[in-house]
Amino acid sequence: MAKINANYMKLPGSYLFVEIKKRVAQFREKHPNADIISLGIGDVTQPLAPAVVKAMHQAADEMAKAATFRGYGPEQGYDFLLKAVVKGDYLARGIKISEDEVFISDGAKCDVGNIQEIFAKGCAVAVPDPVYPVYLDTNVMAGRTGELKKNGYFAGIIYLKGTAENNFCPGPPSEKADLIYLCSPNNPTGAAFSKKQLKKWVDYARKNESVIIYDSAYEAYITEPDIPHSIYEIPGAQEAAIEIRSLSKTAGFTGVRCGYTVVPQKLIGRADGDKIKLNTLWNRRQSTKFNGVSYITQKAAEAVYSEEGRAQIKQVIDYYMENARVICSGFAKLDLKMYGGVNAPYIWLKTPKGMSSWEMFDHLLAKAHVVGTPGAGFGPAGKDYFRLTAFGDAERTKEAIERIGKSF
Ligand code: MLT
Repeated sequence: MAKINANYMKLPGSYLFVEIKKRVAQFREKHPNADIISLGIGDVTQPLAPAVVKAMHQAADEMAKAATFRGYGPEQGYDFLLKAVVKGDYLARGIKISEDEVFISDGAKCDVGNIQEIFAKGCAVAVPDPVYPVYLDTNVMAGRTGELKKNGYFAGIIYLKGTAENNFCPGPPSEKADLIYLCSPNNPTGAAFSKKQLKKWVDYARKNESVIIYDSAYEAYITEPDIPHSIYEIPGAQEAAIEIRSLSKTAGFTGVRCGYTVVPQKLIGRADGDKIKLNTLWNRRQSTKFNGVSYITQKAAEAVYSEEGRAQIKQVIDYYMENARVICSGFAKLDLKMYGGVNAPYIWLKTPKGMSSWEMFDHLLAKAHVVGTPGAGFGPAGKDYFRLTAFGDAERTKEAIERIGKSF
């Protein structure tokens, strides 16, 4: 019998959003007529921008003719998209990134989960608490975390606690971490690092020769001027950080699948004293295990960076952020304590009446027929919090907030 990777046995039974889906399905079975509003998983609801759809159609037509048909593309992404990313996301902010530092992928979740493969098993890993569960779960799978303790924490992980006191923006730890996951704007708290806070992290990483894995999937939702959109806005960050971005939330690509990872040429790791470029390793990994993103998808992604595309996606982002405003003002009237919703499409609510986050989940599902995400799913520090997303339909979002108000 083949022995399994026993690290998997340390994981919770199912992935957070799978567990939520299961509980909602059980509720639906018992209450088939319930009109459920989902503000749970951060999935977009608005259609793709017309410029994106047009580019997809054109690319599909190209695939239909022998003269313009394409088979395997470059594993790292087509030049036209690499150029659009470099120009649109970096040069436009005064950041010099070259095309060979960008790797197009089928989304941030895969990259964020796969990137740990290029690091040694013995690396000390620091993970925010609460945070998107993929960072921790993939390190559990890789055997970097040690045992799960009774209090819900893994023995071998350095937790970066986000609390109301630090505005959910934890600073560097006193001990040395080799790999540091940061998510800004943060999923689930909606908190975002200022330039000053992020500089502390970059300085820490450079001093300790650590690598920051910077997930900025929600950067398009930043509204405040002092919040960096890219970690490379901080001097020296190209020697300290990998940045991972996604078009899922920026341009409604959750179902289309496209994102990218930047691994700067200056970023170095060690192997028995030798200095090794992480860019070379990631390139080796991707060209071995990944065959690139489809041409049609990359053409669609390129259109996101066109003038027309940019204007159209901005309208959708504004639509979602208006939902965030509606949620926040609704909760303010109910005197509920909340965070986020300003630089991110997530609202992080302190559970009222001493409810645990799963109790709140059950309460809202039963009494308001509204689905949210229990904070405990993002780490033990989330146990008294609850996340709602602003990605819903505007009318349904308003209705959800009214229903939640009546349920208390
Ligand atoms: C979330 O709800 O946290 C996200 O949609 C999950 C994801 O982006 O994979």
